[in-house]
Amino acid sequence: MNDFDRARHGAQLIARAQALGRHSDSPAHYTRTFLTPAHQAAAKQLAEWMLEAGMEVRRDPVGNVIGRYEASGPGARTLLIGSHFDSVRNGGKYDGVLGILVGIACAAELNARGERLPVAIEVVGFSDEEGARFQTSFLASKSLVGRREADVLERRDADGVSFADAMRAAGLDPERLGEASVDLASLAGYVEVHIEQGPVLLDAGAPLGVVTTIAGGARHRVTVRGEAGHAGTVPMPRRRDALAAACEMVLALEKRCSAGGSLVGTVGILQVRDGTGNVIPGEVEFTCDIRAGEDDVRLAAERDVFAAFEAIAARRGVSLSRVELTRNVRAVPCSPRLREGLAASVARVLGSPAKELASGAGHDAMVLADVTEVGMLFVRCGAGGVSHNPAETVTAEDAALATQALLDFLRSFSSGSVRR
Ligand code: HGY
Ligand code: MN
Ligand code: MN
Repeated sequence: MNDFDRARHGAQLIARAQALGRHSDSPAHYTRTFLTPAHQAAAKQLAEWMLEAGMEVRRDPVGNVIGRYEASGPGARTLLIGSHFDSVRNGGKYDGVLGILVGIACAAELNARGERLPVAIEVVGFSDEEGARFQTSFLASKSLVGRREADVLERRDADGVSFADAMRAAGLDPERLGEASVDLASLAGYVEVHIEQGPVLLDAGAPLGVVTTIAGGARHRVTVRGEAGHAGTVPMPRRRDALAAACEMVLALEKRCSAGGSLVGTVGILQVRDGTGNVIPGEVEFTCDIRAGEDDVRLAAERDVFAAFEAIAARRGVSLSRVELTRNVRAVPCSPRLREGLAASVARVLGSPAKELASGAGHDAMVLADVTEVGMLFVRCGAGGVSHNPAETVTAEDAALATQALLDFLRSFSSGSVRR
């Protein structure tokens, strides 16, 4: 396959990621959250590119954009390729998006050659993975496979808009959330191409990598209640300062999760209710995200962290009123068959053995793993490997190599085996 035009594909992938990045909820930075006008404009753009690539396009009940490239014959199974097109706040333009664009580029390359494979290909743009607007988690891939998060319809965004109203405003029926939108019985597998979001490939000088395991994680919402009071009149020993208590908890989380290995802990959001400069904080809410490649390591850390929180609360006379799960996924090993197939394709394209690595980030592949075999192909990140940050970047060359490797994989993949 030496007639693959890397330069053209690379330039197009970067240009398209930049073009999609202009569909943002904010003029100040790149943020695209579930079903906002920018999100709907991005969905429309993806659909157009899928049509250009010779795919049939449909929108499913949760707003996923799905392009189908038919197989060579009837009754074929379907290989899913997907990732998400929503983002974190002030994020990077390649997180999720690159995987969708690489899938579309593969379909376009096959279509240009009039080539059909023994499997159908469906490229899925998931409408909500990050959950930044309604604090959901893998909402769109769960719905695609027929699952719905409990209580999600009543959730409200920062402007007080309910999830159900946001769906109706986008022309979607909230009652159809969780209605499966792919034929689960015909799935031959799921492959996600994604930026690594870390420095491992960069440090190894590897443009691509094959994922072994995706770290499991749980995100909790913790509410600490003390007693609001006058900043000038309450003596320090008599305070029940919710923010000072929360800060001690944040440091306790950081300390416990610095035990090494793949264990990590993060507080991404911390809010003081009715915060005012001359008032002792009475109530604080913060998120607590703990992950590890091994579930027993993560669960032990969670137990220790929440025991530490309780001890801090008791000593400071504040209450730890609610710890709510907003996301809890177990660590997911990728399918050995897909790992081998992807590694063989990467080796053929790069001319050297594929690097294998674990994923510290969560991905929609964790949800698809409940219904089919999953594999992931990582693309090297520049800028020190940073992600969830506007400095996130990839090179056109590496993006094109990912397309070439995935195309090689698709050609070798059939329902039965993968060319090693
Ligand atoms: O949180 C994650 O790992 C992903 O970016 N949703
Ligand atoms: Mn992300
Ligand atoms: Mn992502």
